[in-house]
Amino acid sequence: MNTSLEFGGRKQMKETCHLYTDLAWLWPMWGDAATEYAHYCEHVTALVRQYAERQTTTLLNIGCGGGKNVLNLKLNFNVTGLDLSPTMLAQAKELNPESIFVHGDMRAFRLNSTFDAVLMDDAISHMNCRADFVAALRTAYAHLKPGGVLIVTPDVTIETFQQNKTTFTAATRDGLDVVFIENMYDTDPADEQHETTILYLIRDHGRLRIETDYWVMGIFSLDTWRHVLHETGFQIHEGLYRQGEDEYTVFACVKAS
Ligand SMILES: C[S@@+](CC[C@H](N)C(=O)[O-])C[C@H]1O[C@@H](n2cnc3c(N)ncnc32)[C@H](O)[C@@H]1O
Repeated sequence: MNTSLEFGGRKQMKETCHLYTDLAWLWPMWGDAATEYAHYCEHVTALVRQYAERQTTTLLNIGCGGGKNVLNLKLNFNVTGLDLSPTMLAQAKELNPESIFVHGDMRAFRLNSTFDAVLMDDAISHMNCRADFVAALRTAYAHLKPGGVLIVTPDVTIETFQQNKTTFTAATRDGLDVVFIENMYDTDPADEQHETTILYLIRDHGRLRIETDYWVMGIFSLDTWRHVLHETGFQIHEGLYRQGEDEYTVFACVKAS
């Protein structure tokens, strides 16, 4: 009997989306909203204040997921969150009952309102082709008021990508022990995609259940980011954000007033 799983390339693998649907209840256990997200959001707030050419009261968080960024950003802004997953939006609303949440696809949605600031962080990694990537940044531009700022933080770029990088996070809550193991792999450095594979080891009072997710995500060079942001109409400021051993490029992008 053949007990091994052989995956000969991404065409044979079907993408899954458990973390944003049936396993979304795990999301609150993956990274603490009040600590690691707080630090990042302080950085985002400082950049918005530094570069905005207008007063900044309202902020749109595109790809808000379970609302961990919203939890921290609402201390300084009137925040609206947008996401493709109704399950994640429900979680975000539970965490932030006073904030507004909207269902939409970052490649296409258009609200009837504009904002002083927009934040896009890890969710933009799901834009796994150039057309979607461009469309998402155009959406951000369309929702900014003149003089407003988009903060966008690529999770990885071609320059920072580490082949086969594998990280794990362990968390315990209410009799549940969960380990998140995340692996990134680029099967073809010539294209603008990489694979993220996640293994969830879920022990409910010691009883083990194993789940997986497999995503094809976008990866672009810093020059591509600069080019697309510039073509979208933004004036770009570039900086670095450090968290532990990881370093991220952060773009603060101003819409001309
Ligand atoms: C890792 S989660 C974001 C978590 C978030 N940073 C937080 O503070 O909790 C990534 C999110 O991107 C969303 N997403 C993926 N593709 C999207 C799309 N096309 N439009 C809007 N949201 C999308 C997913 O539904 C998911 O909730």
